[in-house]
Amino acid sequence: MSAPKEEQVTILEELLTERRSCRAYLGTPVPPQILGRLLTMAQRSPSWCNTQPWHVTVIEGDALEAIRYDFADYVQTHSGETDFPFPERYTGEFLERRRECAWQLYDSVGIVRGDRHASGEQTLENFRFFGAPAVAVITTEADLGTYGAVDCGVYVAHFLLAAQSLGLAAIAQAALASHAPFLRERLGIPEHRKIVVGISFGYADDDHPVNGFLTSRADIDAVATVIS
Ligand SMILES: Cc1cc2nc3c(=O)[nH]c(=O)nc-3n(C[C@H](O)[C@H](O)[C@H](O)COP(=O)(O)O)c2cc1C
Repeated sequence: MSAPKEEQVTILEELLTERRSCRAYLGTPVPPQILGRLLTMAQRSPSWCNTQPWHVTVIEGDALEAIRYDFADYVQTHSGETDFPFPERYTGEFLERRRECAWQLYDSVGIVRGDRHASGEQTLENFRFFGAPAVAVITTEADLGTYGAVDCGVYVAHFLLAAQSLGLAAIAQAALASHAPFLRERLGIPEHRKIVVGISFGYADDDHPVNGFLTSRADIDAVATVIS
């Protein structure tokens, strides 16, 4: 049994503690060498049988601007269509946690309760990628089913943490998977690849109030059971 590598543990704890979802970005592009390191680090993600079912389509520059221009219009004129079922309902503590983080978001930008227009506009920012200069769309192979999607979730976690370590900010966005046909068509994603989630990333606008809050977490007792 090897002892904890305290220096590494401290660095990881810091990265985990400091990471937060970023919803406002500077226009600065992500340099190619930083993108390369990010993808190389995320590629170390484990997966069942090492199948590595993820494929990541990174969109930047003019290609991203073209999609950014159209996506918000598209979602306002089309019904949602997903490759994986979205949650059917949120109840109990899940509903409470969802409400808490939604209100943190709305409070940060001065949206008052009941202002559906303003909250709708904030939601639309998802489809403008919150102004991020880069977006990664994560797909899985259809045949690998639920566990392929689980592997992609592991990939997303590695991607987010690797981004944090490289000084980048990021946000996972299921919203981007809510209109799968749009991205499938625009990015040329074949039918056998299923869209799991998107990640907008870049350099954080630290002065923007939307990046000014930290979400809470449930106590360990509420989520972990140790049986000995
Ligand atoms: C799979 C996944 C999907 C998410 N989808 C969205 C989304 O569509 N829009 C959004 O604003 N945030 C989205 N988030 C960000 C969560 O709201 C955020 O991770 C959560 O509130 C915890 O906050 P933190 O990331 O700042 O720690 C998503 C996060 C994950 C892991």
